[in-house]
Amino acid sequence: MDPLQLAISTAREAGALLLARVDGPLETRQKGARGDLVTASDRASEELIVARLRGAFPNSAILGEEEGVRPGTSDERWIVDPLDGTTNYAHGYPMYCVSIAYERAGEVLAGAIYAPAFDEMFAAEKGAGATRNGAPMAVSHNATLNDALVCTGFVPARYERNGENFARLSHLAQAVRRDGSAALDAAYVACGRFEAFWEFDLKAWDVAAGGLIVREAGGRVSAIDGSTYAVEGGSFLATNGLVHDEMLAALAAP
Ligand code: IPD
Ligand code: CA
Ligand code: CA
Repeated sequence: MDPLQLAISTAREAGALLLARVDGPLETRQKGARGDLVTASDRASEELIVARLRGAFPNSAILGEEEGVRPGTSDERWIVDPLDGTTNYAHGYPMYCVSIAYERAGEVLAGAIYAPAFDEMFAAEKGAGATRNGAPMAVSHNATLNDALVCTGFVPARYERNGENFARLSHLAQAVRRDGSAALDAAYVACGRFEAFWEFDLKAWDVAAGGLIVREAGGRVSAIDGSTYAVEGGSFLATNGLVHDEMLAALAAP
């Protein structure tokens, strides 16, 4: 099966599962630092996704947020966030999604991000462009930070690391948002709603699909210090390309 189509159909199915359970008993608990939550839906979604991916690609490795690495025997790897935006989900705030990326020989070749509360599917294949609900999508044309809507994220326990940036960007950009789902934040750059999104300390499952989707939509991705973006690098800046240098300068300010 085509990896992109599998990512899309699986993300849609897992998203439907999340939506069906969002009003039920969530069995929410704190799994790490303050604000790091997990619900029974995170685990149920990952279980469903792994079953679908394993069924079609029995030899690939799968990295999922909840259960970690399931080794494979090929050079392929699926990178899965079964529920990105768990805190939002736990409060019924609709900014949450499923993120699935397909990597071969260390390169992400396909990705899908599905937001079930909005029934929006963002997807891309390397070299083939990006889509929103099947139609081609592109980053915005806003060329200055002054006109830009930008977004950030941070682990609540580590707010201080990003607090000054938040304040600085609030003065430089038109407005700053903190929506609580890194994968969806990147998808919103790709479809032109945000001009930029930045966050420190992200994990591969937060950015693998989003990084590809932003690039395929015509945007630019780097680490926050301007160095090359790596799926496992943690530091993530995605923009429409036009405001990238302004964002780098703003985030580099002392
Ligand atoms: C989190 C969200 C949040 C971001 C955190 C992530 P999770 O993922 O993407 O927006 O600020 O850094 O860990 O835990 O909801 O999958
Ligand atoms: Ca996540
Ligand atoms: Ca998650």
